[in-house]
Amino acid sequence: MLPESKPAVEIAPSVLSADWTRAGAQIEAAERGGARIIHVDVMDGFFVPNITVGLPIVKSLRRATRLPLDAHLMIEKPERYAEQFVEAGANMVSVHVEADKHLHRTLTAIKARGAGAGVAINPATPLVALEEALAYADYVVLMSVNPGFGGQTFINASLDKMRRLRGMIRERGLKTRIEIDGGVDLRNIAEVVAAGADIVVAGTAVFGGDDPERAVRELREAAVEWV
Ligand code: DX5
Ligand code: ZN
Repeated sequence: MLPESKPAVEIAPSVLSADWTRAGAQIEAAERGGARIIHVDVMDGFFVPNITVGLPIVKSLRRATRLPLDAHLMIEKPERYAEQFVEAGANMVSVHVEADKHLHRTLTAIKARGAGAGVAINPATPLVALEEALAYADYVVLMSVNPGFGGQTFINASLDKMRRLRGMIRERGLKTRIEIDGGVDLRNIAEVVAAGADIVVAGTAVFGGDDPERAVRELREAAVEWV
């Protein structure tokens, strides 16, 4: 049984690992399995070594699903684009603490446009970098791999980091949610949720096989086994 104070974890499949020629159908399948958010990884080839998708794809995805779209901006100077992603249809937009010198301004602007504002943090960036930003972020994207690619191995130190982040949020009496991103699968999701995740991103674990519906269902079932 889930503790009363903590709502059920939300699974956010990352379309990075979907087959883009049939992304709509794959997202529908993930939704049937119980996905509640669709995570969209935006990469610019500078902040991370990879290039993925941008505003036009978010606009298309907006037409393809009613699920909230969560744009994870792995780009330099994300303040240039954050509001445009809201306009394109993203319901949640996160920017990296390492990439934005004016987090307060950017997060406030995202919220002013009516979307949830997130701050993302790389594995080797200390949590102290979030101390001031926590109060005005709706969620933290705690990276459990170095951003840039799907299918990487979960960095185990992320569990302790997440427990400490959960403590920081609690101490401040905030409602900031924790989204964990990278390397989560059936083997580790229970531990990840027990360490404090509210939202779990899963790319390869959902779209790496041929049945995204079953994959999401199995992740949801496995997520509560630890509790
Ligand atoms: C990594 C991305 C992740 C990635 C997760 O840079 O931010 O969202 O798609 O994929 P998996 O679950 O395969 O690690
Ligand atoms: Zn991501």
